[in-house]
Amino acid sequence: MKGLILAGGSGTRLRPITHTGAKQLVPVANTPILFYGLQHMADAGITEVGMIVGDTAEEIRQAVGDGSRWGLEVTYLPQDAPLGLAHAVLIAREFLGEDDFVMYLGDNLLRDGITRFVEQFSEHRRATGTESCSAQILLAPVPDPQRFGVAEIGADGEVVALVEKPEVPPSDLALVGVYLFDPSIHQAVREIQPSERGELEITDAIQWLIDNGHRVRHEVLNGWWLDTGKLTPLLEANRLILEVLEPSNQGKVDEHSRLDGRVSVAEGAEIIRSTIRGPVAIGANTRVVDSYIGPFSSVDADCEIVGSELEHSIVLAHSKVENVPRVIDSLIGRHAVVHRTHQRPRANRFLVGDHCQIDIDS
Ligand code: G1P
Repeated sequence: MKGLILAGGSGTRLRPITHTGAKQLVPVANTPILFYGLQHMADAGITEVGMIVGDTAEEIRQAVGDGSRWGLEVTYLPQDAPLGLAHAVLIAREFLGEDDFVMYLGDNLLRDGITRFVEQFSEHRRATGTESCSAQILLAPVPDPQRFGVAEIGADGEVVALVEKPEVPPSDLALVGVYLFDPSIHQAVREIQPSERGELEITDAIQWLIDNGHRVRHEVLNGWWLDTGKLTPLLEANRLILEVLEPSNQGKVDEHSRLDGRVSVAEGAEIIRSTIRGPVAIGANTRVVDSYIGPFSSVDADCEIVGSELEHSIVLAHSKVENVPRVIDSLIGRHAVVHRTHQRPRANRFLVGDHCQIDIDS
């Protein structure tokens, strides 16, 4: 079984704070979203991964490298234009060969990974023969199915139809961005026509399989799932990931500091005369001095939090928060400085980037 990760696209849909590059590299709990997908592939026992990249290829390559960090062998497959998920399969033809594969959309976050999902497909095909089903999809009930591919399940419990972004959804079961295919999908992606949005839709390719006598199995997801491309509030994604964070301490915590609950402190980080109340993730080489960091906060690498209190907030790498008594529900971008000064005249002074919001205490 091979893996195909889609890390292409222009990155225009997810615009949290300062991040203007690949949306798949937006950090959640100090880890780029895409890295969760890579880890899930590795956990599922997959070693060869094709990575579809678009105009942010260079940034993705720099972050992921050859994949050896996850025990993976990553092959980059450039897609010249974002022509759709089925188009990605089309250009990966040679890489995929005659193998079964799992396709993973790089902006999807799944709490429980994909191991069980991959096993279910393999077990089923082992028990009933490889001809018995050609694909497996993962479905999840959502409140807003119009924004997704949606499945219609027949009276016999089988998938009968799939529609992309339907105005009148046949059910509330959305297609999660993880798919399993055998090589029959290659004919399907060649046969379909571009959709109204000008893309070769994987949803249409799976419908083609059903229409041409192939069985498509489905599983319904238990744990949560986020399509972060759909403007999921970053604080929400962060909160969900922090809830399943593995506590660890690879940094230095002095004897005047306390770590309560689920806290991860990365290598080189220093906690001095401070209290960290989890779930909280502190990135590599970050210094927290004379401060309190409260639940659902992520402070990324190379930051300094001094004399401040932070709660339910995200601070991206290389930023500094100094002598600010209370920072809540906040997103602070990269290389940002928030500090209290005694400069005259007394005033708030801002240098604020695009698409920002600042709420000042009355
Ligand atoms: C894509 C698929 C859609 C699926 C969704 C899951 O949507 O086309 O069927 O439900 O991913 O994340 P897109 O991200 O292209 O809007």
